[in-house]
Amino acid sequence: MTAERVSAAFRELYGTAPEGVWAAPGRVNLIGEHTDYNDGFVLPLALPQTARAAVARRADGLLRLHSSDVPGGPVELSLDRLGGRPDRGWAGYPAGVVWALREAGHPVTGADVHIESTVPTGAGLSSSAALEIATALALSDLFGLGLSRLELARLGQRAENTFVGVPCGIMDQTASACCTRGHVLHLDTRELTSRQVPFDLAAAGMRLLVIDTRVRHALADGAYAARRASCEEGARALGVPALRDVDSAELRSALGRLADGTVRRRVRHVVTENQRVAETVARLEAGAIRAIGPLLNEGHASCRDDFEVSCPELDLAVGAAGRAGALGARMTGAGFGGSAVALVEEEDAGRVAEAVAEAFATAGHREPRVFSAVPSAGARRLL
Ligand code: GLA
Repeated sequence: MTAERVSAAFRELYGTAPEGVWAAPGRVNLIGEHTDYNDGFVLPLALPQTARAAVARRADGLLRLHSSDVPGGPVELSLDRLGGRPDRGWAGYPAGVVWALREAGHPVTGADVHIESTVPTGAGLSSSAALEIATALALSDLFGLGLSRLELARLGQRAENTFVGVPCGIMDQTASACCTRGHVLHLDTRELTSRQVPFDLAAAGMRLLVIDTRVRHALADGAYAARRASCEEGARALGVPALRDVDSAELRSALGRLADGTVRRRVRHVVTENQRVAETVARLEAGAIRAIGPLLNEGHASCRDDFEVSCPELDLAVGAAGRAGALGARMTGAGFGGSAVALVEEEDAGRVAEAVAEAFATAGHREPRVFSAVPSAGARRLL
């Protein structure tokens, strides 16, 4: 889907040309799961799949939102009455961004928006962050707000937390706003400082497969919020601002001070996962891409056993990929369904994908969708 096509669809819909077309990608997280709301570390990469937004300003306080994925005409909202939390489906994400911009005092006076997205929805690949960041970048450019990439990410998170009502961390929005081609983004979610770490799979003769189990998770449901609450309880019990502050050298003694078994396991996941992120970065920076495989496997086991956010389909995908020769594999994103990633030698990619599909067929699951994640650019203006 080209920017010109998105622009033409806008013209057909609204009867005038858009002022521009912007794109923002979905993401997969290489490692660092459920660490972002613990002030910890994450390592996502942007996908080539993007949400593309054709946008024109309005001056009359009206917001019109349209998506090619949804039948019917544009959703019309009045900027004066954006508050509250009615379920607006996909439109809640761009509308939430406009709400957050205005809440922050930015003079956004209305807009016509048409969006086309190639980011699979409900697959744990941050299709909603892509919508938010494409909209935020477009409005920042058009209204001359000059927002930094990190400010765009914060606005997107605010829209999602407060307007849509999903208590997510800041990883997905930052990945969509800040990632660069050929890199993973090493983000410190407390300081909001980041570093681009080279992840040139093609040059190394490798691929990162994304395995979409097509089991749909609902982030807004209680499981994610419950994990957050357990982590906060753990931090409180240990007397630290966040689990990021638990030193891995003192993990054993910290765990000994936690009475609740569930909280203990949640804490162990977060602390060891932060360590795995650091170790993954060290290996990547040493040029040892293959050596991160075992860390991915350990990360999955920790998500499955200690954080309990995997599901049978994800475990099957990870197990089958490993047996077929993947160097490492793990669930990615919030879990409870969604996608896994598997690091494979280029020549093994087909075999691994087939083995996973076969395992799913044997188990009576829906056929998974498998594609290669090419580390791609973050949000940008296309036209
Ligand atoms: C979702 C959230 C992120 C992060 C991941 C888990 O993708 O949006 O903020 O918490 O889950 O790592």
